[in-house]
Amino acid sequence: MRIDIISIFPGMFAPVLGESMMRRAQDKGLAEFAFHDLRDWSGNRHRKVDDRPYGGGPGMVMRVEPIVEAVRAVRGMAEPAGRLILTSPAGRRFSQSVARELAAEKRLVIVAGHYEGIDERVRMVLEPEEISIGDYVLTGGELPAMVIADAVVRLVPGVLGAEDGAAEESFEGGLLEFPQYTRPVDYEGHRVPAVLRGGDHAKVAQYRRRQSELRTAERRPDLMTGAAPGGGAPRGPVGGA
Ligand SMILES: C[S@@+](CC[C@H](N)C(=O)[O-])C[C@H]1O[C@@H](n2cnc3c(N)ncnc32)[C@H](O)[C@@H]1O
Repeated sequence: MRIDIISIFPGMFAPVLGESMMRRAQDKGLAEFAFHDLRDWSGNRHRKVDDRPYGGGPGMVMRVEPIVEAVRAVRGMAEPAGRLILTSPAGRRFSQSVARELAAEKRLVIVAGHYEGIDERVRMVLEPEEISIGDYVLTGGELPAMVIADAVVRLVPGVLGAEDGAAEESFEGGLLEFPQYTRPVDYEGHRVPAVLRGGDHAKVAQYRRRQSELRTAERRPDLMTGAAPGGGAPRGPVGGA
């Protein structure tokens, strides 16, 4: 999979997407990233890509021409043209299922917004898919672009060490992940449950499934009912075993 990101801060991406799992995905040839400086399409010698809003108001607005021209140029740099995503607090809410959907694509082109907003004609002309990573406002679309890239790339087959690693993670199958333990067996009186040390794989699977259900029911009942999030009980230890 190839992911192109267009931003006014292209230098922000390599330190994050060039490490850890994202680095390994690139080394294995399973992911390729390309970061583009929107200012290269500013069309002026000051490399300015923003301007004052018509109608007044605080802040600056990203101009339409640089974004449209950058997207057209970047899409033409490789095949296929790619699914076009605009990061926006007003977009479709990003989730594990959206990540899975995007992981099936051969190429994504993500535009990171900045300033107070983006000229509405970007939406009219390019008709991008708008994605929000949550109900809060960030300074720019760089972090959302990295969140999307990371969540998507780790779902590309072969990126995770064990192929079924992702299948048991939180949100897969509508459940949160079960509690995990490693050595020591006893830490300040908190012991690793005996069933996990017994070597009976069927019992371990049953125990983990039950723990996932209990944790989800307690913290995120909306995942089980398909209702809107936020109705979960306060966080605390999961009862029962
Ligand atoms: C300061 S924000 C603009 C917010 C805008 N004034 C509003 O009220 O919706 C600048 C850019 O950051 C990105 N951004 C901020 N919060 C985001 C979020 N929750 N999800 C996705 N992108 C976000 C978008 O690209 C946005 O254009």
